[in-house]
Amino acid sequence: MKNIYDPDYVKKLFNHMSGSYERMNYITSFGFSIRWRKQFLGKLGASDEELNVMDLLSGLGENWSFLQKRFPNAQFSALDFSEGMIEKSKNKANTVFKGKLNLVCEDILNNNLLSGSYDIVSCAYGLKTFNAEQLEILAKDIARILKKGGKFSFVEVSKPENKLLYFFYKMYLSKIIPVLGKLFLGDPDDYRMLWIYTDKFQNSKVVQEIFERNGLKVSYERYFLGCASGISGEKI
Ligand SMILES: C[S@@+](CC[C@H](N)C(=O)[O-])C[C@H]1O[C@@H](n2cnc3c(N)ncnc32)[C@H](O)[C@@H]1O
Repeated sequence: MKNIYDPDYVKKLFNHMSGSYERMNYITSFGFSIRWRKQFLGKLGASDEELNVMDLLSGLGENWSFLQKRFPNAQFSALDFSEGMIEKSKNKANTVFKGKLNLVCEDILNNNLLSGSYDIVSCAYGLKTFNAEQLEILAKDIARILKKGGKFSFVEVSKPENKLLYFFYKMYLSKIIPVLGKLFLGDPDDYRMLWIYTDKFQNSKVVQEIFERNGLKVSYERYFLGCASGISGEKI
């Protein structure tokens, strides 16, 4: 049986999806992914200072224009291990940051980022492809790379508690999204994984516990009745 948390498997999946991901993300979420994106980035505040900002698991750079508006004088870095995503994000890097983006192609679970170097760390929709052991490594690393007082915020698609909402959300993510994936020139098997990961992930509660255990100050957030959840906080 395939191990869906094996980094090589996840990397192949995102390399394969990189051609259709932006289109799919935009059309199929009915604007919710953008709404949640704005909300979770809002937890990071805003500043005119020359901060060091890192967008983790950056995909096609979906967070970048929002981060740029919040931190207009910051030095930006972004990290993703999918060469396909990195390559296709370069245009956006030029448009949003005028080419001044430090784009790192590395596995976050085995990276060369400098310790104590970031004021801000953001990450959208990247938690569900990690198992508990990998989340532990992630938490340790967030605590390592943040400066003291540095802030972080994560968001992820989650399972709502309301049974009726859960029924429709599950139907949409597990049955309709793969069909839409095919329609928008993606591979339905790739998009079928969205529910498989979400089903196992549940919500960000476990992530909160793991991050707290690693010495970070953490708040738990629910978005739209639990259809997404996240954590935000700081290094104390
Ligand atoms: C669902 S996409 C999210 C992309 C983007 N942040 C967004 O908001 O749409 C998850 C991204 O995380 C990347 N990723 C997953 N595991 C990773 C790892 N261990 N190291 C680096 N990048 C990883 C994938 O390549 C993919 O681009």
